[in-house]
This record gives sequence, structure tokens and C-alpha cells, in this order.
Amino acid sequence: ADGDAEEGKKVFRKCQACHQVGEDAKNRVGPILNGVVERQAGTLEDYKYSDAMTEAGEEGLIWTHENLAEYLKKPREFIPGNKMTFAGLRKEEEVEDVIAYLETFPDK
Ligand code: HEM
Repeated sequence: ADGDAEEGKKVFRKCQACHQVGEDAKNRVGPILNGVVERQAGTLEDYKYSDAMTEAGEEGLIWTHENLAEYLKKPREFIPGNKMTFAGLRKEEEVEDVIAYLETFPDK
């Protein structure tokens, strides 16, 4: 199911306490999410990831649409020990919409 980026922008409010996107985005509690779709997990150079996230990336985890969807639904179960303290998005539609929004920031 393809998401709606406009709706996803609203869903992203739940992420904004910790993440930024767009031209002036900076790493905060969480890493910048520009270009995250199809990025290898845990690989932004200026951000200090948990060991769990770094290892997931080293083991080959790529933030494909499918993997992002699973992570955003159950962050702690998808990568045990990762430090994103977010309960997860409950509605499939919110997941699809926020991914569609993230896809509008293709460049790092
Ligand atoms: C990591 C997305 C909400 C804190 C990540 C990553 C993604 C992501 C894709 C992995 C990035 C990478 O590998 O470079 C989102 C989305 C959110 C959300 C779409 C909203 C739906 C939050 C919230 C917080 C948070 C609310 C803070 C309370 C973090 C932290 C990491 C992270 C600390 C690094 C995890 C680690 O190194 O183990 N997030 N996030 N995120 N996020 Fe979020």
C-alpha cells in the first residue's frame, strides 16, 4: 500500500521530538532522517548509534520500505537493544504515510 506524504507529515510530529528532516536538519536525540529510505542502518558518520543499531547495519540491515515498516511498528522487537525509546506506530496507515513522507527527503 502506498502512503500519503501529506498525511505522513502530520504523523512525523511524533518523531520530531527526536528527529529532523529537511535542509537544515541536525542530529538530535535521534539521527537526521534525510535519505534514510534505502540507507544502511546505523551509518551516519556524525551520529553515535547504539551498539545494537551499529551491528544491525554491519550485518547488512538496509532501511528498505519493508524493514522500516517493521521497525516503526515495533522498534524494540525489530532491533533488540536499540536506543530509540519510541513505542511504535500502531496503525498500518500511519506507517505507510510516514514512510511516504520520508521518501520526499531523498538526499542526505
Ligand atoms: C533511530 C525513525 C521516533 C529516537 C531511528 C532510525 C529510524 C528512525 C529510521 C534509524 C536511523 C539510522 O539507522 O540511521 C523514526 C520515525 C519516528 C521515530 C519515523 C516516528 C514515527 C523517534 C522518537 C525518538 C527517537 C520519538 C525519541 C524518543 C531515535 C534514536 C535512534 C533512532 C535515539 C537511534 C537508535 C540507536 O542508535 O539505537 N529512528 N524514529 N525516534 N531514533 Fe527514531
